[in-house]
Amino acid sequence: MSLSLSKRSEQVKPSSTLAITAKAKELRAQGRDVVGFGAGEPDFATPSNICDAAINAIKDGFTKYTPAAGTVELKEAVCGKLEKFNHLHYDPAQVIICNGGKHALTNIFDALINPGDEVIIPAPYWLSYPEMVKLSDGVPVIVYSTKENGYKVTAEQIAAAVTDKTKAIVLNTPNNPTGMVYSRQELEAIAKVAVEKDFYVVADEMYEALIYTGEEHVSIASLGDEIYNRTITCSGLSKSYAMTGWRVGYAAAPLEITKRMSAMQSHATSNVNSIAQKAAVEALTGPDEAMKKMKEEFDRRRQYMYGRVKDMPLVSCLEPEGAFYVFIDMSEVCKKEYKGEKIEKAAKIADILLNEFDTAVVPCADFGYPEHVRLSYAISMEQIEKGLDRIEKFLKSL
Ligand SMILES: Cc1ncc(COP(=O)(O)O)c(C=O)c1O
Repeated sequence: MSLSLSKRSEQVKPSSTLAITAKAKELRAQGRDVVGFGAGEPDFATPSNICDAAINAIKDGFTKYTPAAGTVELKEAVCGKLEKFNHLHYDPAQVIICNGGKHALTNIFDALINPGDEVIIPAPYWLSYPEMVKLSDGVPVIVYSTKENGYKVTAEQIAAAVTDKTKAIVLNTPNNPTGMVYSRQELEAIAKVAVEKDFYVVADEMYEALIYTGEEHVSIASLGDEIYNRTITCSGLSKSYAMTGWRVGYAAAPLEITKRMSAMQSHATSNVNSIAQKAAVEALTGPDEAMKKMKEEFDRRRQYMYGRVKDMPLVSCLEPEGAFYVFIDMSEVCKKEYKGEKIEKAAKIADILLNEFDTAVVPCADFGYPEHVRLSYAISMEQIEKGLDRIEKFLKSL
């Protein structure tokens, strides 16, 4: 016997975005007036009708185990939303309710991947995908996009990355960290490759409700029977309903895949908190005014932030179309020196901004782009203005 730990756990890095938020909090606790652009969660309170549904669930004694894959009531509500918003038909048996989008994704990868299977991950990517794939014994295959193509990979690039080990691709639209949205035509071309080359699509649509261009969100699974049969659509309530702490996400898939995920979940975590499930039913079926208001406010901040950043020296960014992030190219800044030291990487920029300008930004090495930073606009307009003033001051000092 030896007291060594698992190889699987050894290769996984802790989440750097959570680490930055923690560092900013720590400085704030020391009395520093830190502006945190790291937030990956809406700054709004969960709408009161949703909270009331949870309070009523407690009062009504809805506090026991539910079926492991979720209550029929919530699965039906998810199906109703998928039908109406995503133009996707699923039976409740094809839906699993999980502990947030993260848990839905880990279930999906566990259901699909055999050791050594490759999963194509377009970059920039949400930093958890490669780690999740590795945790499921898969091999992440990163395909880099260009700014010229809106930080989106093309169907040709994907086709070129396919090998006989390719099991799946992870598609995230609207995208974290870029805020970019794949068009129907782009998704059609990608779907064609997936069908021809015979691999699964993991469609992470966590930010589907937050598109500001007036365009409709397109779910790749809605583009035809063949792609429907190889897509696992996943989303959740965290971002659209300001419900990050409630931990409710879901996946919808061909029945055989959902059955596998449900069996695994029944041993791993059992059901999502029964009270949160009741709240989720209210979120999906109740009034959506609060959600619309949040989206309007995000849009106002998005426009302000993009307007400011595009006029700053040494940096550039594309106008984000969705989610709540601005993805900034800092490669020119990386070539500069600060106090006699070469900057080189966005991680250094983040350090300088935090320690000397009291401003937390997310350096994007863990998202595949070490010379970019991500700024979230899920913070108040007043904070955004203050933080952007500080970033501008830093850039002008170079
Ligand atoms: C693209 C993307 N997918 C999934 C998630 C997970 O969301 P949840 O908090 O519901 O686990 C996040 C959270 O940051 C995300 O950005």
